[in-house]
Amino acid sequence: MAHALDRHVALIGFMGAGKSTLGAEIAQRLGRRLVDLDREIAQTARQTVPELFEQRGEAEFRVLEAHATIEVLEHERPAVLALGGGAVETPRIRRALREQALTVWVDVDPATAWGRVGGGGRPLARDEESFRGLYERRRPLYEECADVTASEAEAVVLAAAGIVVEEGSVARLAELVPAGEVEVLADATVLGLHGPPLEAPVHALRAGEEAKSFGAVERIWRELRLDRNGIIVAFGGGCTTDAAGFAAAAFLRGIRWVAVPTTLVGQVDAAIGGKTAVNLPEGKNLIGAFHWPEVSVIDPGLLATLPEAERRAGMAEVVKAGLLTGEPFWELPEVELVRRCAAYKAAVCLRDPFERGERAVLNLGHTFAHALETAAGYAGVSHGEAVALGLLAALRLSGLDTAPVEETLSPERVRVNRDAAWAALARDKKAREGKPRLVLLEAPGKPAIGVERPEAEVRAALNDLIAE
Ligand SMILES: NC(=O)c1ccc[n+]([C@@H]2O[C@H](COP(=O)([O-])OP(=O)(O)OC[C@H]3O[C@@H](n4cnc5c(N)ncnc54)[C@H](O)[C@@H]3O)[C@@H](O)[C@H]2O)c1
Repeated sequence: MAHALDRHVALIGFMGAGKSTLGAEIAQRLGRRLVDLDREIAQTARQTVPELFEQRGEAEFRVLEAHATIEVLEHERPAVLALGGGAVETPRIRRALREQALTVWVDVDPATAWGRVGGGGRPLARDEESFRGLYERRRPLYEECADVTASEAEAVVLAAAGIVVEEGSVARLAELVPAGEVEVLADATVLGLHGPPLEAPVHALRAGEEAKSFGAVERIWRELRLDRNGIIVAFGGGCTTDAAGFAAAAFLRGIRWVAVPTTLVGQVDAAIGGKTAVNLPEGKNLIGAFHWPEVSVIDPGLLATLPEAERRAGMAEVVKAGLLTGEPFWELPEVELVRRCAAYKAAVCLRDPFERGERAVLNLGHTFAHALETAAGYAGVSHGEAVALGLLAALRLSGLDTAPVEETLSPERVRVNRDAAWAALARDKKAREGKPRLVLLEAPGKPAIGVERPEAEVRAALNDLIAE
């Protein structure tokens, strides 16, 4: 099957399953075109589907259907397709689905389906008994074609991005990793706590930012015995997945990798969206590549051993995602919260995989955070604390209630040099054409990028984050 960014999402399933409605919602979330095949065929033929059945017969309809479906699957940019209920009966369509699409079975029980479409105009839904018989005959074909079964948009978005969020999923990692030789790159602390996630050669990386250095990655490159079909499995927090993802991006000009994030930051943020990086002494994340993992296996059960400070760092990203969507994700139970945040980030990144536009919303609060971290010389203020303060500044400049940040993250002003912080912020801004451009919110759930504010206002907002 093609990779996440290149493959279509194809919805299959019986009449009345709701493929068109669900397809429209998924298309909107992924920023893609919805191709409703029955509608498309009817438009091209200038006849309704019942008329086509009546006048040309089912066999001819299937030929038209195969032509239209394969045309989209093989020649168009990745789209969301809602296939007709009988499309899977055509072997050529099944083959094209296997090669070009993530195929999602939208299942429905035949009684519900009959309630929705029975006795209407559809040629194959005229009497209930043959309707049910048809469902039973097609069912094995749906099963054979489906990569996943889903009936709501969020599950499809996660599957489209190659993300599995499931408590206990690490225990079945071997089935989730694509076929091929595997070597594991793991955070040494995580290895000590949880053991290796797979039976495969394991390379330990030092905990934290030390993993994101050329020295550490060069050692890994020299140790790896994988060939071009090999797969790197990254097991650790954002530092491990960033470093391992980068190691995979450059090794033999790019091999596949799988992310198994073990921190909250990793599960809701770092392991999603394909950004990989290492640091230089001159700055963080200066060297890297966009290299999407084949799969991100997210097991919230791994968070049981996470120290409180690391959990809080993750919560800052959870609050950020909640403010961007306008939904209080931070109030949800952990598994649900991870799932919602992961699905949100995945959708943004699938819409803008190489950060050419909209993906910049994810920087909400981060311009201020980086300025504070730089002024502190990356010591004395953690990234999570800095993001919490940055979100506070963004909410204040947006004229919005700061309670979500204050109540969930309790940020405290930091002691850094004000001029140094301002200089760092100004440098960040200069990188964007010299104007103070920020990500702010018009309202919760309505982010705006590239917002310009008077320098004095921005500087005052920054000063408010710094202790006397
Ligand atoms: N690529 C991206 O899109 C992206 C997004 C956000 C952050 N990041 C990067 O991620 C990094 C931060 O990631 P992080 O916050 O996960 O830090 P991290 O990887 O350093 O992990 C934090 C600490 O938690 C420990 N740890 C990890 N999992 C554990 C577990 N289950 N139980 C106990 N301890 C555990 C680690 O050993 C480490 O000491 C930064 O370098 C940042 O630049 C990247």
